[in-house]
Amino acid sequence: MDPSGQTAAIKYLKEQNSTNMFHELLTDEILAAAPVTEPERQHYFIGKLRDYIQMQAGAGSDSAEHMQAGAHRSLTAAVVTFGCQMNARDSEKLEGILSEIGYTITQDEQAADFVAFNTCTVRENANEHLYGRLGRLKQSKKADPDKIISICGCMMQEADEIEKLKVKYPYVDIIFGTHNLYTFPELLFMLFRKRQHAADEIYTAGKEVLRTSSDDRERMEKLLRYGSGPSNLKDIEKLSRRPVISVWKDSGDIVEKLPSRRKYSFKQGINIMFGCNNFCSYCIVPYVRGREKSRKPEEILEEIRLAAADGVKEIMLLGQNVNSYAGGLNFAGLLKQVDELCDGIGIERIRFMTSHPKDLSDELIETMANARHVCRQFHLPLQSGSSRILQRMNRHYDKARFLDRAARLKAAMPDISLSTDIIVGFPGETEEDFLETLDVLKEVRFDSAYTFIYSKREGTPAASYEDQVPEDVVKDRFDRLLEVQNRIVDENLDRLTGACLPVLFEEISEYDKDLITGKLENGITVHVPADPSVIGTIRKVRLTENHRFYYTGEL
Ligand code: 5AD
Ligand code: SF4
Repeated sequence: MDPSGQTAAIKYLKEQNSTNMFHELLTDEILAAAPVTEPERQHYFIGKLRDYIQMQAGAGSDSAEHMQAGAHRSLTAAVVTFGCQMNARDSEKLEGILSEIGYTITQDEQAADFVAFNTCTVRENANEHLYGRLGRLKQSKKADPDKIISICGCMMQEADEIEKLKVKYPYVDIIFGTHNLYTFPELLFMLFRKRQHAADEIYTAGKEVLRTSSDDRERMEKLLRYGSGPSNLKDIEKLSRRPVISVWKDSGDIVEKLPSRRKYSFKQGINIMFGCNNFCSYCIVPYVRGREKSRKPEEILEEIRLAAADGVKEIMLLGQNVNSYAGGLNFAGLLKQVDELCDGIGIERIRFMTSHPKDLSDELIETMANARHVCRQFHLPLQSGSSRILQRMNRHYDKARFLDRAARLKAAMPDISLSTDIIVGFPGETEEDFLETLDVLKEVRFDSAYTFIYSKREGTPAASYEDQVPEDVVKDRFDRLLEVQNRIVDENLDRLTGACLPVLFEEISEYDKDLITGKLENGITVHVPADPSVIGTIRKVRLTENHRFYYTGEL
């Protein structure tokens, strides 16, 4: 037997099981002692994970001197978000939890120790985005098997997608859904526990092998990492790499008061309700986000108060369908209370999204018109201008009702900026139907329109409609729609060129680092040459030029 080879192998085994000393952090007793009520239970796991991560970071330091000096390599986490504002807000919660545990947030998903994907499934291409990004992580996960990849969000509520992940992307570690986002700390704890158990078993089995073998460290490394030795090691390793999966069919109570980390220091999304009861025939959201649930007004107001105390200047009230807020008062009532609260606490701007035209009440329009801080901006998804198609979409309004709502908004607030969503190529859409949509665009003259090609979502009623529109026809309509809408935007924006208006500055421009990007009250983007110190402040800007989707201006 080669003594030096054996020593190296033992050393290797010890390193391999360096987390052994953290046993006491992952025992059955620790698990059993977790509180059963929420959010206490998750706070408990956050505490345990923080200790664990701290030790790991210490043990992971590359040199002995570092360890002696107590220096830790800080572990990093990247959160990648797809989809809507609700998802963006959920990602702030993921980042909040990861930061509390001890991860440093980074944008670099290749280098990160932890990558959390928050997915969207509203259209097929959202799903493809995830698979593209996951594929690109394969190599870095191979190089560092301890890297953790978690996936949550709407797409994980679809059983088929989870099956696909298990088969084609077996290197994913944690999968959870929209209803149990708050259990993220617990799931992470379970993953570490499973890995720890596997490491222990490998260690024990490896010691057995050492007793009977004279192999050197390299061979041992292979044996342990890739299981090319005794098959039980390979099995243990494999089992420990299976993902922790927890997806719920529906939500329990809303869990409040978990950490969150604001992406922008000066603005924040505030959830007011979750889920959707509308079942538009093309839409998968009600299936993946569940039924409507409203937060209590006191919780909402408290969160806004805390945000204000933290220097937040703009809030956005979020819900799939804010107009059906039902937290003991209706949305107009809530908005009024929020507006009153914001007086004098430093929050200058209140936005909200999304509204369904069918429940847009006169009371809400009036509340908005009288409010001091509610921005003159309204997102009112049209989807189609054809009453026949709207009926097939199960939207519960027709063209005339939509035009009436838009006209009322404009009459009450002449300076309001309207935006919309449009789906082109819904099953059965004829040229006449499409022309009705163009007609509404020309009449309402939205400042912006998010235009989507109809995407068939399995499980929705429209997916089984037989009269799907051919691709080339859809493409042609889509192009024509953009042409009409772009012209309108161009003409609309001209109305403010030369005006001097307040802008909330948000960030350094993506395209030109000498420009700072901000938003007008009506939501339109402005780029201004300025010092980055203006970020987070509201300043008056003269809008010098209309660039169709944005202005340039000067302080
Ligand atoms: N295909 C295309 N667009 C869709 N949307 C929702 N479901 C689909 C679908 N199946 C659009 C709607 C909605 C926006 C968020 O996404 O316009 O308002
Ligand atoms: Fe989907 Fe309609 Fe609900 Fe919006 S209102 S989330 S489009 S079902």
